[in-house]
Amino acid sequence: MTQQVLADAAACTDAVGSATGKPRPDTAGPLQVPGLAYGGDYNPEQWPEEVWAEDMRLMREAGVTMVSIGIFSWAFLEPAEGRYEFAGLDRILGLLEQNGIVADLATPTAAPPAWFFRSYPDALPVDRDGRTLWPGSRQTFCPSNPAYRRAALRIAGVLAERYADHPAVAMWHVHNEYGCHNAACYCDTSAAAFRTWLRRSYDDDLAGLNHAWGTTFWSQRYQSWEEILPPRVTGADPNPTHRLDWRRFCSDELLSLFIDERAVLRQAAPHRPATTNFMVMQNFDALDYWRWAPHLDIVSNDHYLISTDPEPQIDIAMSGDLVRSLAGGRPWLLMEHSTGAVNWQHVNRAKRPGEMYRNALAHVARGADGIAFFQWRAAKAGAEQWHSAMLPHAGTDSSVWQDVVRLGADLKALAEVKSSVNPAQVAIVWDWPARWALELPSQPSGAIRYQTLVRDWYAALWEVGIAVDFVRPDSFPHDRYPLVLVPSLYLVDDAGAANLAKVAECGGTLAVGFHSGAVDENCHVRLDGYPGAFRRVLGIRTDELFPLLPDEIHELAGEVPPGATARLWSERVRLDGAEAVASYAGGPLAGGPAVTRHAYGTGTAWYVATCPDRTTLADLLHRICQEAGVRPEPGIPGGVEVARRRGADADYLFLIDHAGLGADVAAEGVELLTGKEVNGLVSVPAGGVAVVRVPH
Ligand code: GAL
Repeated sequence: MTQQVLADAAACTDAVGSATGKPRPDTAGPLQVPGLAYGGDYNPEQWPEEVWAEDMRLMREAGVTMVSIGIFSWAFLEPAEGRYEFAGLDRILGLLEQNGIVADLATPTAAPPAWFFRSYPDALPVDRDGRTLWPGSRQTFCPSNPAYRRAALRIAGVLAERYADHPAVAMWHVHNEYGCHNAACYCDTSAAAFRTWLRRSYDDDLAGLNHAWGTTFWSQRYQSWEEILPPRVTGADPNPTHRLDWRRFCSDELLSLFIDERAVLRQAAPHRPATTNFMVMQNFDALDYWRWAPHLDIVSNDHYLISTDPEPQIDIAMSGDLVRSLAGGRPWLLMEHSTGAVNWQHVNRAKRPGEMYRNALAHVARGADGIAFFQWRAAKAGAEQWHSAMLPHAGTDSSVWQDVVRLGADLKALAEVKSSVNPAQVAIVWDWPARWALELPSQPSGAIRYQTLVRDWYAALWEVGIAVDFVRPDSFPHDRYPLVLVPSLYLVDDAGAANLAKVAECGGTLAVGFHSGAVDENCHVRLDGYPGAFRRVLGIRTDELFPLLPDEIHELAGEVPPGATARLWSERVRLDGAEAVASYAGGPLAGGPAVTRHAYGTGTAWYVATCPDRTTLADLLHRICQEAGVRPEPGIPGGVEVARRRGADADYLFLIDHAGLGADVAAEGVELLTGKEVNGLVSVPAGGVAVVRVPH
């Protein structure tokens, strides 16, 4: 299909003009923006043309260097099928070029126009209940629909040919937030695509699928591939492996759309890097980004705060560390965040004074080489009219605008930070299929949330400034990190389990959270005691799980702080070589181990068999770090976030005051935001940020 679509795209291109014929490099280069990129989504087609000149003037005033354009411009560019109108986009790109601003030019495929659905109503997505979702917003298409794929690749190809050599175009922005609104479609076309994916994944072996899905249970055996459907709404609990494979399929199906669009762009413009904006943030879990990231030239992410989150700064840091890890440790771009309120939560909180500034620099501290917002100019009309922007409804006489201008100037002052990396001695295991499996129905407890478990462990390290990378269970050399944390890994295959065990066996420290290692990659329980895959390395054996009711709390005794408690989960652990570090002081498991430590090989393996309260968990993890030889950044006062980027000649020490009290921190070098020499102590302003260049 891809070949046919490429041919279609090439045919269209001849009709609208093509590239200049100059020789081009045949691989994607880096993003050509001086210093750290700064900007936002720019939607000038939503405004009369007179406004564009003012946009340019104000972008220059704010220090904007890159804007994402055309993200939702499909109807503007192709008002009827096969009829293209590029005069508007030509003028916009021309203006950007004249003003020294580069474009991150999008393929507009996240919002098919009304004409498309009129001609191809079968492309509308269907939800789990069998309801068709109608046009009228965005991403209302079925990812497997051939007509959608053809139309998307055609407009991508036409754009690529036309703008491949345009001097203002620095990067391709493919689609927008894949899967944000249509992560799964349950229509018959999707059902067929699911079967194709399954046949490929199971080497056409239906017996193998029946075994993997455990279909002898409840008479679910399939006699033919045609009998297999998406996991549509059904009466009782669904088959877990069916659901898990469905999630894998949905992620892969959207990834194939990206790969196909990327191929079209690469064919016309191999020298231009391409990205698509990920959504590594707490309320999105649809895509296995470990599988996506290798296909991007530059990894970029969107991050929004959740109004009810009391500590959004931890969410930002964790998201940034995970995105950087997806990028293989290389710098990445923050493609979207907000200057203030969003419009899609129940109550949309504006940011407090200084919060946007701290947020933006916190992303830079975690490895971002560019900071952008949704969006440049606040909309007057449409569903996002109450979403904040760089240029608010109030105009330039506003504190948001002042903050935007200041941020632009300060990012300029941080230009030398570009391309530096974030060294880390600790790895945290993060795995999307393990997350999906843990949150399937029919678990021992429905109260467990993967994101929360990982964040609780992450927070303990964040508080003391211990840097982390995220890894997949089997994707890293076992001797790369002295300490590997596994807050939650319900599902793990044998290779992942073996790699993690080797960490301890070969002298490192491994710490594993409860209900990990329980099932294999097919969601089959590992027999002979929990936590199946890690029993040996942890030196324990659990014979029964005791999840706790919502308000059930048990006290802990042993090597724990006074008043230590456990909630959410407990299990009857028998020591099989390990020692108990903490045990239950009451409840049905009184006296039984709650935290264990096992000398294994030449290293150590810990098991945290419950969910300790925050202080207890932090105390435990700090002890584990210390024993593993991992030291926090010294002398950082509470409430101050610290992160370090390493350049060729210097480290860049980021200090962000979230407590609003200001602080003096020991450092030597130059504070880049003020340009002042630091001889011994740097002052972090109350609610502000300091960045010290510390020469090696
Ligand atoms: C993102 C999206 C943007 C805009 C923004 C609002 O998910 O990519 O187009 O809708 O949310 O917060």
